[in-house]
Amino acid sequence: MSRKVVLAIPDLGGNEEKYVSDAVRSSWISSTGGYVNRFEKEFSEFTGTQHTASVCNGTVALHLALLALDVRPGDEVLVPSLTYIATANAVRYVGAEPVFVDVDPDTWCISPAQLEKSITRRTKGIIAVDLYGHPADMDAINHIAAVNGLWVVEDAAEAHSATYKGRPAGGLAKIGTFSFYGNKILTCGEGGSLSLNDPSLYLRIKTLRGQGMDPNRRYYFPVTGYNFRLTNVACALLCAQLERKDEIIARRHAVFKRYQEKLQGIAGLGFQPVAEWASPAPWMFCLTVNAHVFGHTRDEMMKYLDDNGVETRPFFIPLHTLPPFRQESAMRKEFLPETEKIAASGLNLPTHSMLTEEDIDYVCELIRNYSVTR
Ligand SMILES: Cc1ncc(COP(=O)(O)O)c(C=O)c1O
Repeated sequence: MSRKVVLAIPDLGGNEEKYVSDAVRSSWISSTGGYVNRFEKEFSEFTGTQHTASVCNGTVALHLALLALDVRPGDEVLVPSLTYIATANAVRYVGAEPVFVDVDPDTWCISPAQLEKSITRRTKGIIAVDLYGHPADMDAINHIAAVNGLWVVEDAAEAHSATYKGRPAGGLAKIGTFSFYGNKILTCGEGGSLSLNDPSLYLRIKTLRGQGMDPNRRYYFPVTGYNFRLTNVACALLCAQLERKDEIIARRHAVFKRYQEKLQGIAGLGFQPVAEWASPAPWMFCLTVNAHVFGHTRDEMMKYLDDNGVETRPFFIPLHTLPPFRQESAMRKEFLPETEKIAASGLNLPTHSMLTEEDIDYVCELIRNYSVTR
């Protein structure tokens, strides 16, 4: 066995190097420069929103969104438990408490049907996560929020290019947030952004991002702000990524299609569900394992693939079961059966635009041969 199939590789084959060199040669390497402005303009077009604020990562994007929305100690924010920990960590950064809500088995995203049951007098808002590239049911979530006087943040870190009823993910709530970490569809290594339409909220975000400086009076700081800016060098990478977004996304869709074709019909294996109103982003291919039918558990499958040179990763461990959150969650008697079921059964297969058909066929053959029923 010599083949190695890694989980994620950034696709930097276009103008990335050229634009980074250009940024370096220009000496604009901090957070001012042409690439920052260009990226923010082009990303607004991509998400169909008026404004984009680039920031240093996706966690900071969430943190800044909550600061701008004035979330405070004692507030509660409804979040899914089936997500990356950054979603809930950001709530803690502002002293508020994440309250975990179960996911809808048909989308794996926060369940509108469950949301209302968790609203209390302290609830201020909802963070809906477009999990594994699949958009959350944003119309239903926005409606519940409007009726209850809450705001909604859409965490679209994993959903670059997804659409919901034809509208781009990340542009569907009061604020949308993105990550450009190295394993994301569009990447600059470490980076993030906020997407929004509200001009006064945008001004507040820009002020807080830049140490709180008054945009009309240099070195006058009316509020305590942060240094959350993204560099011109990172934005140079993102500009090059955006030039090739259609190609990068199409290649990843082709990877998804081949996995689906080759893994079709294996008893005990399942794919990520897709709602009829959703066009998910091809972020990481998801597979669920029903151990009773397939004959091996998810963890056994991961070990077997690893032994054969294929890197995978398990689905997110439900956040309400992790040490930073489990005590509070238990006190609230949270019961999230769908989250726990999906999390325990799922794994991500290698997904990136450099995967060859032979790589995919190799992974699928291994899985098919491992199945007890074949
Ligand atoms: C759903 C979700 N939210 C937030 C983040 C945080 O992004 P970053 O790693 O850029 O801080 C991630 C990313 O990796 C994510 O998957």
